[in-house]
Amino acid sequence: MAINKIIIANWKMNLDTKEEAEKTASLVDNEDAVICPPFVFIDAVSRIIKKGKLGAQNCFYQEKGAFTGEISPIALMNMGCEYVIVGHSERRSIFQETSEDVNKKIKTATKLGLKVVVCVGEMKECTCDENDDENAEYIKKQLEESLQGTSPENIIIAYEPVSAVGSGCPIPVYVGKDRFNFIKRVLIDIYQIKIDTEEDITTVDVNIPILYGGSVNRENATDYLYEAGFDGLLVGGASLDGEHFQDICNKIKK
Ligand code: PGA
Repeated sequence: MAINKIIIANWKMNLDTKEEAEKTASLVDNEDAVICPPFVFIDAVSRIIKKGKLGAQNCFYQEKGAFTGEISPIALMNMGCEYVIVGHSERRSIFQETSEDVNKKIKTATKLGLKVVVCVGEMKECTCDENDDENAEYIKKQLEESLQGTSPENIIIAYEPVSAVGSGCPIPVYVGKDRFNFIKRVLIDIYQIKIDTEEDITTVDVNIPILYGGSVNRENATDYLYEAGFDGLLVGGASLDGEHFQDICNKIKK
């Protein structure tokens, strides 16, 4: 069964006022959209969101306790969040988050019933080469370490090549397509998913959504959704303009 496509807005640490957050969220009206505002605006957005769902950009791996400055996954759920992003490349590079940390977060958040968007991506400049084994190995390692001991329910993978994040330079669609199938293969191994060995990987359905993220906009969204075949998109910069984000959501064919 084909997975329903999903488009996630990652506002990061942008939109400085409640009014701005509300205005941006009010322009989004799509059942396949998920908005991940800064924590301080989650409540305001939850009151204004129409058909979309609510998510958070991070959470801690403990449910509660003496962890000054951290965010409880239970509190996020109580605020109406159904999704949480973990292991974003900015968290991995700026805040030194490791795949081990990501693994703990996934275990806690999925146990509680949150849908967890696990970000992985290349270690260095995308070489735009489908046969770039070094980068492929790196993505495989991130996936294996992050997903170790987890079960596939409520897992969503976001493939975000670091060079494409926030740069205005998305990777070529043919590389995206190759990576999409590569990640599928890795997930089949990690979760021991039974497939017909004769089956062409491009037609195999692993039932774990694999999204693309990195300089997505209304012009290129369709390419990643339908040419590369991703199950959805994680959108940063272009999600800060509610109308632009809504246009991206509208690219989903019904
Ligand atoms: P971008 O960010 O769309 O601005 O490249 C994507 C992300 O970081 O999730």
